Amino acid sequence: MELLSQLQEAGQRARDELAGIDNLESLENLRIRYLGKKGELTAVLRGLKDLSIDEKREVGGVANRLKSDLDQLIREKREDILTASTGGALDYTLPGRPVSYGHRHVISLVLDQAVSIFQRMGFEITDGPEVETDYYNFGALNFPPDHPARDEQDTFYVEGDKLLRTHTSNIQIHEFEKRTPPFKILAPGRVFRNEAVNARSYCVFHQIEGFYVDERVTFGDLKGALEAFCYEFFGSDFKMRYRPSFFPFTEPSAEVDIQCFLCEGRGCQLCKYEGWLEILGCGMVDPNVLKAVGYDPEKVTGYAFGLGIERVAMLKYQINDVRLLYENDVRFIRQIR
Ligand code: PHE
Repeated sequence: MELLSQLQEAGQRARDELAGIDNLESLENLRIRYLGKKGELTAVLRGLKDLSIDEKREVGGVANRLKSDLDQLIREKREDILTASTGGALDYTLPGRPVSYGHRHVISLVLDQAVSIFQRMGFEITDGPEVETDYYNFGALNFPPDHPARDEQDTFYVEGDKLLRTHTSNIQIHEFEKRTPPFKILAPGRVFRNEAVNARSYCVFHQIEGFYVDERVTFGDLKGALEAFCYEFFGSDFKMRYRPSFFPFTEPSAEVDIQCFLCEGRGCQLCKYEGWLEILGCGMVDPNVLKAVGYDPEKVTGYAFGLGIERVAMLKYQINDVRLLYENDVRFIRQIR
């Protein structure tokens, strides 16, 4: 039968040619010439349609076997060529490909460091709602109804009476309502302010609220806790100052500044030419707040503070723009682990 001998002849030729091939390109050419759509074996198989059923069965069987043998031979040849090109062996001394691991974000790291320092001073950890009512964010904290901080400029309103908390001091009220003194509580969280974004402030940031209510708690206790925190957190090399301030829910009130790391106190854009960066607000819980939650201000006193996490992170790691903390550019994020 003519077709059968044609097939066998083509198969033999392919094997002979294959033996002489030593590169991938000629190998691929050979594959296409015999097994491709317009290849020789494919053409023979097309001729099958003119044969009788018995002949089809015989020639078809031979052709299929030939095809798969040739296919297998070509594969083996490819392996041989590849092995030869790597010198016949894998180079186990090549360095591995670097794997990049994820790690925690600066904010989480600093938040944890700060929380653990205060925890060692006996503070209990809690949290509170980010979406809050006017009452917990302002009213119960002794903000008069017309206080400028309620202005839409600072506060993101959600709907009706609901707003995004502008500080973590709302947690003071939630806890005061639930507990009877003495208690010493620490509450970290996210806060939101509708302010212009710049190198110093962002519309979202983190605070840690701390407060301690008991008999005879003094401003000295407050200073002791804050200074212990700063020494632990910044090491011994930092300058700190208290500045008298005002908050409706504390009396007296103060703010704590740390000397600006960027200009070392000389004044620069970051510190608004003050030489100092504010890290927290604090004070003695106002008797009005104590009274409103049913405590007797003649019997108990308390201190409270609200620490800005982004600020202390910037000071500790010398970050000169708060926006870097929110852009998630890995070139920045990878630098602090
Ligand atoms: N809540 C104040 C602020 O965000 C900080 C503060 C907390 C002040 C507790 C006094 C006591 O600015």
